[in-house]
Amino acid sequence: MPNTLSPKEEIKRAADIVQVIGQYVQLKKAGKNFMGLCPFHAEKSPSFTVSPDRQMFHCFGCKKGGDVFDFWMAYHGVPFPEALKDLADRYNIPIKEAFSSGEEKERGRIRETLFKINEIAAQYFQEALGQSGGNPAVDYLKKRALSQEIISEFRLGYAPDAWDGLTNFLKSRRIDSQMAAQAGLIIPKKGGGYYDRFRGRVMFPIFNLKGQVIGFGGRVLNDALPKYLNTPETLLFHKGEFPYGLHASYKAIRERGVTVIVEGYMDLLALRKHGLQEVVATLGTALTHDHIRKIKGYAGEAIVVFDSDEAGRVAALRSLPLFLNEGLSARAVVLPHGHDPDSFVNKNGLPPFLALLEKGAPLFDFFLDQKLTGGGNSIEGKVTVLKEILPILAQLQNRAQRSLYAGRLSERIGIKEDVILSELKAAAAGLSEGGLQKNLRERGAAFEAKQRIGDVQLLNLLVHHPMAVTGLVETDCWKLLSDATTSRIIEKMFENYRKEGRFSLERLEESLENEEVRIRFREALVAESIYSDQEVKQAVREIEEKVCQTRLTNSIKAAGGDPKALNRVLLELKERDARSH
Ligand code: UTP
Ligand code: MN
Repeated sequence: MPNTLSPKEEIKRAADIVQVIGQYVQLKKAGKNFMGLCPFHAEKSPSFTVSPDRQMFHCFGCKKGGDVFDFWMAYHGVPFPEALKDLADRYNIPIKEAFSSGEEKERGRIRETLFKINEIAAQYFQEALGQSGGNPAVDYLKKRALSQEIISEFRLGYAPDAWDGLTNFLKSRRIDSQMAAQAGLIIPKKGGGYYDRFRGRVMFPIFNLKGQVIGFGGRVLNDALPKYLNTPETLLFHKGEFPYGLHASYKAIRERGVTVIVEGYMDLLALRKHGLQEVVATLGTALTHDHIRKIKGYAGEAIVVFDSDEAGRVAALRSLPLFLNEGLSARAVVLPHGHDPDSFVNKNGLPPFLALLEKGAPLFDFFLDQKLTGGGNSIEGKVTVLKEILPILAQLQNRAQRSLYAGRLSERIGIKEDVILSELKAAAAGLSEGGLQKNLRERGAAFEAKQRIGDVQLLNLLVHHPMAVTGLVETDCWKLLSDATTSRIIEKMFENYRKEGRFSLERLEESLENEEVRIRFREALVAESIYSDQEVKQAVREIEEKVCQTRLTNSIKAAGGDPKALNRVLLELKERDARSH
């Protein structure tokens, strides 16, 4: 039998969406679906749904959804042709060229070229490090106590101290200089030509989750500045988007249920060398929502290790609202004075480091301690601290936790606990006013849903029982619905059915014209079926009945007092009775 499936369809068959998404998001079985924390928006309780039956996902919170390709595109931030290629590679499905619009194609081609250039550059740097004969980078890495295994696994390299090393190498490989400049590797000279961005530096390739090189960091071998030079923003590399090392660590993170977060390349590599695998690095930027969203897909807890310096302290304080918002529980560890994880673990070994992790205080406690220590003991100082802490405290969902912190706050700040509690109540009321409104809105929506019950039921029936489509396609039952969105879906559904003589949910989704309609459709798809198989016939009959009645009522109305027209209506009614008995 000839293979008539398109590569897209073939991949969809081969790639189980639960398995694909499950690599990046912790999923738990819930009824016929799987649920997890949405990787696309901040949430504390799961509304991200993956349906194995439908091979689709939908987030009831942010409304993102679609098939395995939509997930791949959104999660990895890649255009469709790249998603197609990635999944095709993964499932060994041969594809020729990805079909797509000209613009998309062009962007995909550029990205592909940039990846290729990065890969060539990474190999060039690696080779330069391998070259023997007084290579200063080799000595430097020896001094930093990195093992050969780590150096190869993370593909460290050396950018020789020359202006045109990589520039010439890329030329010899027939790489377009303009593209290499777009990859951030070489820089155009004023008078024409190009020169190397990275010179005389140890090179750290930065990888995406798939292990492709998206950029580089380069460290000087001495005290020159800047200490680290990074790839600028490119089509592939966005600062603060992706935690360093996650591609190598995510399995360990999932197994251990915790992510250790450090700041630097060297911190991560040193810890891994000593055997701690569940670690990622932020590369010196403050933690971002993007970081946390990626991390929380693998583990329910983070331990953030901050350098003992002022910058580390500030970073720790800034990260608290982020963690609270994303619902990822976090602890903070501050290293002894003068240490970062790299120096600490190289001096003391892993067990003392693990002991520090063990003792890490919940980030909130840490925050409190730092603020109170820093805030001074003056009355003004205390009030300032209180003002800063209360709104954050009010965000805590857990009441016991809240009053626990209020108690601690009272102790530390010397303000009576009941005063703090009443202030907290006021702050919480300020917050939950929003909450209350949301609640009312949701209840309103539920009420509306009941009013629209015919709409919801009808769509549910049609989506879960294709037999019902066959039964109802000759009626215009969608006209009866009060909700225009649902009505449009069903109209389209019937239209497609009439055209093709069969029914495909997938085609249907593609043919829906706007996102609002598609969202409603996805919600119906992942919902549980309201009707059992036995109830379908009865339901179809009831709807037919309703359609007829409405038509009849309308006809009678339209007939007005015209006896001829009324007669026609009566005849029609008789015919119908005859048919149904
Ligand atoms: P640190 O200044 O803490 O350096 O920067 P480090 O990681 O301890 O570096 P070593 O041990 O001296 O080699 C932490 C991270 O911030 C980023 C780097 O990713 C670094 O690992 N950084 C730092 C830069 O991007 N540029 C810089 O100039 C400095
Ligand atoms: Mn360091």
